[in-house]
Amino acid sequence: MRSETIISAVGKADVLAEVGCDHAKLTELALERGLCGRAVVSDISAKCLEKAEKTLRRFGARVTYVVFDGVPPEAERADVILICGMGGNVMSGILSRYRGEARLVLSPQGRADLVRRALADNGYAIDRDECFEADGKFYDLIAAGKGAFSPDPMQAEFGTFWQKPTDALVKRLTVRLNKLRGGGERTAEEAERIAEVLKWRTDRT
Ligand SMILES: C[S@@+](CC[C@H](N)C(=O)[O-])C[C@H]1O[C@@H](n2cnc3c(N)ncnc32)[C@H](O)[C@@H]1O
Repeated sequence: MRSETIISAVGKADVLAEVGCDHAKLTELALERGLCGRAVVSDISAKCLEKAEKTLRRFGARVTYVVFDGVPPEAERADVILICGMGGNVMSGILSRYRGEARLVLSPQGRADLVRRALADNGYAIDRDECFEADGKFYDLIAAGKGAFSPDPMQAEFGTFWQKPTDALVKRLTVRLNKLRGGGERTAEEAERIAEVLKWRTDRT
């Protein structure tokens, strides 16, 4: 399940913040599992926050609700911030405005390259970066803490650890490669880069 993979990167937190929580199912799972003592859930949409309140009502005063664009001031004390399920362009904008030092657990919907670059620009180093498959869809999971990091173009596009591609990355890129075959010059360049990643496939059987 998507939520299980994302939550596996949270570890333990006194305070967990979820930005762009919508129905807050990820925070619910973290609270249920005892991964955090308190939670701050926020969303740019008041309607989404109402959904979160319904999901998390049973956790009472352990949860703070905030309508906010980006990381709210209430998340200042968070050890871990989850930002998942929004586009990489929106997420990179949020990251570029964030001035704190919490561990970040991110799962962008597309344009993960922008997220990796925004992390590096904001003094974050990625320590987990994997493509995974859940319910027939591919997702990226990126976790980072404060540190120096400068992704090269291949790392930005395919993931920090692209030379150890996960099964899901191999599958995702093989599908993409098959679509690109027979395309024009621009797609041929992307196909070449993908072929480079697939070359690093190791036989794990
Ligand atoms: C698809 S939902 C993801 C819900 C949940 N985080 C998950 O991954 O299961 C994306 C949410 O991000 C919120 N959002 C979009 N831009 C935002 C921003 N700049 N600041 C805060 N929330 C934002 C949307 O309102 C929406 O509720």
